[in-house]
Amino acid sequence: MQQNMIVIIDLGSENTTRIARDIRALGVYSEIHPHDLTAEQLAALPNVRGFVFAKGPNRAYEGQIVEPSAALTDAGLPILTTEEVPTTEELKPFIFETCRAEANWNMENFISDQVELIRRQVGDRKVLLALSGGVDSSVVAAMLIRAIGKQLTCVHVNHGLLRKGEPEQVVNVFGKELGANLVYVDATDRFLDKLADVADPEQKRKIIGAEFIRVFEEEARKLDGIAFLGQGTIYPDIIESGTKTAKCVKSHHNVGGLPEDLQFELVEPLKMLFKDEVRACGVALGLPEAMVYRQPFPGPGLGVRCLGAITRDRLEALRDSDAILREEFDKAGLRGKVWQYFTAIPDIRSVGVRDGARAFEWPCIIRAVNTVDAMTATVERLPWELMEQICDRITREVPGINRVLVDITPKPTGTIEWE
Ligand code: XMP
Repeated sequence: MQQNMIVIIDLGSENTTRIARDIRALGVYSEIHPHDLTAEQLAALPNVRGFVFAKGPNRAYEGQIVEPSAALTDAGLPILTTEEVPTTEELKPFIFETCRAEANWNMENFISDQVELIRRQVGDRKVLLALSGGVDSSVVAAMLIRAIGKQLTCVHVNHGLLRKGEPEQVVNVFGKELGANLVYVDATDRFLDKLADVADPEQKRKIIGAEFIRVFEEEARKLDGIAFLGQGTIYPDIIESGTKTAKCVKSHHNVGGLPEDLQFELVEPLKMLFKDEVRACGVALGLPEAMVYRQPFPGPGLGVRCLGAITRDRLEALRDSDAILREEFDKAGLRGKVWQYFTAIPDIRSVGVRDGARAFEWPCIIRAVNTVDAMTATVERLPWELMEQICDRITREVPGINRVLVDITPKPTGTIEWE
């Protein structure tokens, strides 16, 4: 193993994540662990050079003040005890002089360590991965291909609700360029048949989620001898938000909804990375930037943007209008600057005029928002010329759309998605 590590021990601090990020920013790998690490658990952590005991206001757990375990205090390693976020000036001498840690945390070392760990965990057995094409699953796929090549099988379920060009990109990048074992399942008809006439947003989400598991499960059963399931779990999924107690690290969540007789061990090579590190890892593994820096996209996909009961013609209009919107944002230099932007098409029509004749068609809604944590969001103030250009292209190029509207509602009261 390449990287030295500083372990942050959570003693009720609200700042553990911040401290971990600050230490990583100094080029030294850092992980957060609970106060009650055993000697055995500690021994399993590679290259630990020192501890930060992060005390805080939530130090009481079930009425008792939490103390670091004997395994930690007796380890003979340097300890920095703090109730605040240590400044860089405090961290540097501790990390580099007292702990004598090397600044060797970088993507190349991370990847080579993970490749070694994955090979050790998997041996000559086989791994299955649900490859959605999203950032996390794509980076996991690239990492597993690097580590175990053809022992990995990726299953890409196209539910028909992906953005324009996305299934093709998955097939090209993973199936062709990276030479993965890729099972591509076009389940569009199956999903759209199940969703026909269903207008209730929650109902739609449930159908899409359940059907997804069913298709994936069917494909998994067709494969022989799979022992592991790859998962795109990332560090924020693991760190409990707001350390209520010193037990900061959640038990791992299992893959939601898979039936119990399909039992796999998990391989989670990104579980210690923050989102920006996941992207950097993807780039280092050779994934295209457009895939790694893509904006968030909901699991139910375009299904929650084709409002009300989904029809194929309105879904196509949605996909085309979304592609035009993204193209125009790219041209205007807004990619990566606006957090999320998309179109939605409601199930209503209005009277308009096209080529001198009455046109009874749908409106297309533009939504562009900025947020830090998706809990609240503000609306991007789009240049008027850009809105005109988008309106012009969508009404001319997308069959069935005669008006373009802009959603100027922050969250709250709107949510980011419409359904
Ligand atoms: P809302 O609409 O709740 O969305 O303000 C907040 C963020 O979450 C995304 N979103 C989802 N992401 N599965 C996901 O992985 C989902 O079911 C889902 N629903 C919403 C949404 O796009 C926005 O970025």
